[in-house]
Amino acid sequence: MDTFAQARAAFDRHIAKFRDASGTLPFALEAKFNHTGEVCEITEKIVAGEAHFSPHDALIFRLCALFHDISRFEQYDKFKTFLDRQSFDHGDRSAALIDELGLVPELPAEDRACVIDAVRVHNKFAIPADFPSARLAAAKMVRDADKLAILRLIIRFFNGDYSDPTIRLDLPDTPGWTPAILETALSGKCVVYTDMKSINDFKLGLFAWSCDLNYPASAALALDEDLFGRVRALLPESDKIDALLVSARTRLNTLRNSTRPSDRIPDRCRS
Ligand SMILES: [Fe+2]
Repeated sequence: MDTFAQARAAFDRHIAKFRDASGTLPFALEAKFNHTGEVCEITEKIVAGEAHFSPHDALIFRLCALFHDISRFEQYDKFKTFLDRQSFDHGDRSAALIDELGLVPELPAEDRACVIDAVRVHNKFAIPADFPSARLAAAKMVRDADKLAILRLIIRFFNGDYSDPTIRLDLPDTPGWTPAILETALSGKCVVYTDMKSINDFKLGLFAWSCDLNYPASAALALDEDLFGRVRALLPESDKIDALLVSARTRLNTLRNSTRPSDRIPDRCRS
């Protein structure tokens, strides 16, 4: 069994603890299980579009995708919520579980640390300035794949295609929006959830994610699936919101066409 297959088997063994006698997960956990699958699938797509990554890089990225939300199962089981502020920081806890559960024990120490650090920061507002440079590629990859999967999920949710228990917004669905939120998103700065006053503010805040993708292949996927155009369709008619979409598409096109220096995981930590 190769390293990823072993990791997948360990992941499945952990998830099995939350299944009932018939093997069924609670609905909310089934949704998280599916989200992990989607992050894995998107990771594969981004890697396929970034020719500079090696099979070793790809393995690290796939492990990050598999483990990034592994604490969500325990979080829901214990606290019946996916809200970190009412339970624990799920990035920190997922990172801790990699050691606690003895996942991928055969992985070389530096690779293991790379996966753990990337998982830890996957849900943070930004990657910390002092984050080890050798682990940046993995952190960027899991953050990109997670954001793209969440955008897909939010679009499904607001289109009514999917009753998703993982989306819980404590915001009123009122008409209009907060102008300052639109300006923040337009400037490319991330919008803080606590500044949002309505569901429309939340949707506007998603446009800032067009500035927080890292890989050209991530931008390509967002453009090919028209993720931001589909979010825009969920908002009221407005020239300003149209302009927000144009700016997001412009940023994504710039990233897609860029030839950025590659953040390869250094040879010294290759297995
Ligand atoms: Fe997460």
